[in-house]
Amino acid sequence: MKEKNPPIVLLHAFPLSSRMWKEDAAFLSAKTKVFNLDLPGFGSSSPMEGVTMPGMAAEIGRELDRSGVREPVFMAGLSMGGYAAFEFLRQFPERLCGLGLFATRASADAPAALKNRALAIEAIEKFGIEPFARKAVKSQLGKTSQEQNPSLVENVLSMMREASPQAAMDALKAMAGRSDLNSLLPSIRFPVLAAAGEEDEICPAAEMKAMHEKIPGSRFHVIPRSGHLINLENTPVFRKIFMDFLEAEIFSRP
Ligand code: MLT
Repeated sequence: MKEKNPPIVLLHAFPLSSRMWKEDAAFLSAKTKVFNLDLPGFGSSSPMEGVTMPGMAAEIGRELDRSGVREPVFMAGLSMGGYAAFEFLRQFPERLCGLGLFATRASADAPAALKNRALAIEAIEKFGIEPFARKAVKSQLGKTSQEQNPSLVENVLSMMREASPQAAMDALKAMAGRSDLNSLLPSIRFPVLAAAGEEDEICPAAEMKAMHEKIPGSRFHVIPRSGHLINLENTPVFRKIFMDFLEAEIFSRP
């Protein structure tokens, strides 16, 4: 392993956990130190009462401190993981040497999304995580995965079922309360890879392309035959794009 490669931090989507990055983390760990983190309340991490998106980003900073990471990291987040990465950028720009922004957005929730969050919180409170997970798996996985990859559908469902109802409700509130961070985009001065799923209806490719156009020098790819969970739905294409970018823009830097 080249000691000089910057550490990579992977941040998962909602309502998943670090499990969604497990294979990518193993693959990347041949190149550098990888921190595949569970956001507060998910996977093995403790819940944070009244958690907010700034609170999640601050906790990522503390986790890096606890692990003795002083150098800038490459941070990659998918969807909610991207929201946390944008907050980290706002709070700690000097701790980043690059960003991977996958199926995510810098904007705050629109009114319709806020309404859906409130309904989702109510539903989880009443019925638990199972009905929510069944709905989420349908909206997150693209048409191709739904029709052709039943084992992926099962795998994603099993990850979503692991989410504690409290963590899911807390994260929904945190996402609903997040700030619009579009104003940060034009001043980003490090390499950024943005990628969207061709079939993603949650963060449509056109919206992600518009976001990438505000980030100087960033790269943008559309992952074919994929919905929202691009690393799981089209792993070979996602991984090639990610690795080629890291090799060209991050690992080759002196
Ligand atoms: C996610 O995948 O993290 C969620 O779709 C994010 C969101 O609900 O905004």
